[in-house]
Amino acid sequence: MGKIDKIFLNSKIMSLDLFLEKTLYDKKFGYYQKKNPFGKTGDFVTAPNISNIFCEMITVWVVSFWENLKKPKRLNFVELGPGNGDFCEILIKTLKNFPEVYDSINIILYEKSYILKKIQKKRLVSEKVSWVDNLKNIKSGPIIFFGNEFLDALPIKQFKKINNNIFEKYANFKNGKVEFVYKKAVKKQIAKLRSYGLLKNEGVIEYPEYGFKELNIICKKINKLNGGALFIDYGYELKKNIDTLQSVIKHNYNKIDQNIGNADITSLINFPLYKQYFNVNNLNVENIITQSQFLQKMGIIERANILRKKMNLSEKTNLNQRIKRLIHPKMMGENFKVIFAKNKKCDFSLAFK
Ligand SMILES: C[S@@+](CC[C@H](N)C(=O)[O-])C[C@H]1O[C@@H](n2cnc3c(N)ncnc32)[C@H](O)[C@@H]1O
Repeated sequence: MGKIDKIFLNSKIMSLDLFLEKTLYDKKFGYYQKKNPFGKTGDFVTAPNISNIFCEMITVWVVSFWENLKKPKRLNFVELGPGNGDFCEILIKTLKNFPEVYDSINIILYEKSYILKKIQKKRLVSEKVSWVDNLKNIKSGPIIFFGNEFLDALPIKQFKKINNNIFEKYANFKNGKVEFVYKKAVKKQIAKLRSYGLLKNEGVIEYPEYGFKELNIICKKINKLNGGALFIDYGYELKKNIDTLQSVIKHNYNKIDQNIGNADITSLINFPLYKQYFNVNNLNVENIITQSQFLQKMGIIERANILRKKMNLSEKTNLNQRIKRLIHPKMMGENFKVIFAKNKKCDFSLAFK
């Protein structure tokens, strides 16, 4: 009997988001608990893995936010889902060029995967860095939250509208295999979908209940302690309902019901829906912009020009390829978007105007 069966042994039927939660984060057999999925030898690559320059641009944005917050003596910076620690390592290194910010910053990492936390602890040995299991335990502000490809890794629910009836997707287990079935959705759930205008269109309706639970704490902290949250992720801005669940293994697409526990499963971010959620929770949201716009406004081209001066030809070619990957519209430049939600009294909007 394979490990998939062990995760779901004795399981009968469960909602799609619970199925995804177990598949990805089950303490023993979940995908993120077993391996380091990043890089060429893993299953996928993220922007911090592609180039330090991406991490530098975010760091400069944080430095400016700190200034806008009137240079607080203590700033909590929370990285949500820090992965293999690539971003945080460059954050610390780059901040050393800004000694006042470096002194004031307190870096808090929020990570659910035991193996990734282990990797982070080995790599990020600094009195500046600590880990938190529950965001509620952060009591002081101001706070800046940052998540790169954090939201897409959170389980979602899916629904279908058939003749004005709403059905929720469930995972059912038979003979060691999973099959997806639809059951009538409960009233409470339908009311949530309606409140966000998700029932207006046909198609597969996606609702990030887990994501909203995480964001609920984040919004409360920002409201109470001041600051904001910056998220970068792949997603869309259509008002349509679409099925965006996707799975990858070793840099190739995989069927959702195959290689369970050994393949990553993510969904695209419905950015307008997240914007609504932030607004409902009393935060202001800047325009949603593309990763390309964000990085270019933060000066990625100018930074690359400086770096190139000290590089030989092959290093230059390598840098050019990496930057292209980050900002080209047909690569990550446009599929990846950036959303910034902030306390209502905060007027920081660098890169978004
Ligand atoms: C796709 S990876 C992105 C990693 C990193 N930010 C990057 O860009 O390379 C998603 C990360 O979020 C973490 N994660 C997912 N759900 C989480 C949760 N509910 N709480 C904390 N971390 C979570 C995963 O373990 C992983 O580190």
